Amino acid sequence: MKTIGIIGTGHVGLVTGACFAKLGNIVSCFDSDFEKIEKLKKNIIPFYEPGLSEIVKIQKEKKKLFFTHSIEDVVSASEIIFICVGTPSNPDGKADLSFVEQASIQIANALKKMKDKKSSKKNYYRLIVEKSTVPVLTGQWVKRTIELIAPTGIDFDVAANPEFLKEGSAIRDFFYPDRIVVGVENERAKKIFKQLYKPLNAPMIFTDIKSAEIIKHASNSFLAMKISYINAISRICDKVGADIEKIAQGMGADKRIGKDFLKAGIGYGGSCFPKDIRAFISIAEELGCDLDILKEVEKINTEQRKIVVKKAREFLWNLKDKNIGVLGLSFKPETDDIRESPAIEIIKLFFQEGCLIKCYDPKAMENTKKILPNIEYGKNAYDVAENSHLLIFATEWEEFKRLNFKRIHKLMKTPYIIDGRNFLNLEKLKEIGFICCGIGKKPGGL
Ligand code: UDX
Repeated sequence: MKTIGIIGTGHVGLVTGACFAKLGNIVSCFDSDFEKIEKLKKNIIPFYEPGLSEIVKIQKEKKKLFFTHSIEDVVSASEIIFICVGTPSNPDGKADLSFVEQASIQIANALKKMKDKKSSKKNYYRLIVEKSTVPVLTGQWVKRTIELIAPTGIDFDVAANPEFLKEGSAIRDFFYPDRIVVGVENERAKKIFKQLYKPLNAPMIFTDIKSAEIIKHASNSFLAMKISYINAISRICDKVGADIEKIAQGMGADKRIGKDFLKAGIGYGGSCFPKDIRAFISIAEELGCDLDILKEVEKINTEQRKIVVKKAREFLWNLKDKNIGVLGLSFKPETDDIRESPAIEIIKLFFQEGCLIKCYDPKAMENTKKILPNIEYGKNAYDVAENSHLLIFATEWEEFKRLNFKRIHKLMKTPYIIDGRNFLNLEKLKEIGFICCGIGKKPGGL
């Protein structure tokens, strides 16, 4: 059992804190957002993540998980302190590390206060861990910041332990990771991480802090590169009538390539990939090492949204005043997160074309209404389908697979469907009478 502090209760911080509590540790969480902590104290989770609210509720009742407005309480109660604050993009693509700096200063000040209060014989050792995705060399800055403020006699180590939690399956990813990456400076910190993660029985990769920081950026960039690569190939399929899904299957069966993250579609979005790739390009440029390969990954991803408009034009001729139904708004299923969602970008493109847009999502409607108040929202998929000229499936929610497409066919003005995630059975849709296509995929193949 360890005492753990979490600074920042966003998606990463809250999932990490709740899961460590479930493993039997005592976890206290701090966030500078007063409202957020008040809500968490009342078991109100600020976002949708399957399974999370149950864990939070139970671990709070078991007195393993606490929420507080005082960072001093967190620092004083915890041997291991995870920095889980946001690292958003600056307009130039560089990671904005001001929240990490602020957290480091607050931790250092709390250490100072703790030392003033307690007897000099007390053990003040603290392990301060970067959990948020940060550019290489951030660990050095965290260490330097704390050293400058915290008084002598405070013993601490800095470490990097990047998260690999996917939204929508974050709890599973925490308990069953492919690997746990840890960057440390000494054996003492390494020993603590070994004890902390022992219950997970997962492969651990120990390295220096800088390498751990790069592992995170390089991993996410590589995954995004796989997605853009298959999307680029899907364009050839569209031209010649080949099937991108069969191509991905054929490629992925080669163990060196691997089958995951080869799903063609309207591109990647979310709070991580777009931001992390921009930050990786930016830090590489700063270091004099251009990562042009990633610039191309970004370019393909942006163009992937425009392809949907092009396909719509091939179906509908003129787009102005046409009713476009968009099903799915979150950047992927099982989340209400719409940050950098391809669906939102596509809606904006159709809006610019003068189309009338109506949309629906099982979880992400409230978040979308905040940024797109001037479009119509349907009660469900059928409501969106009624009188629409074209339906675009932008997120592969399970409930969309089970729709009564015969009913949808009757409701629509013209029977056009674009499957932006290649998850529908286009042959069946064609049999019903739809004119439809996917991305790099049409009905009528072998
Ligand atoms: C990602 C990383 O996977 C995770 O390890 C990291 O730490 C946080 O960022 P997340 O952003 O939650 O996780 O989503 P992920 O499942 O990786 O998908 C990202 C985007 O890529 C989604 O928009 C998804 O629809 C898209 N995607 C994914 C594809 O277009 N094709 C694929 O084959 C896979």
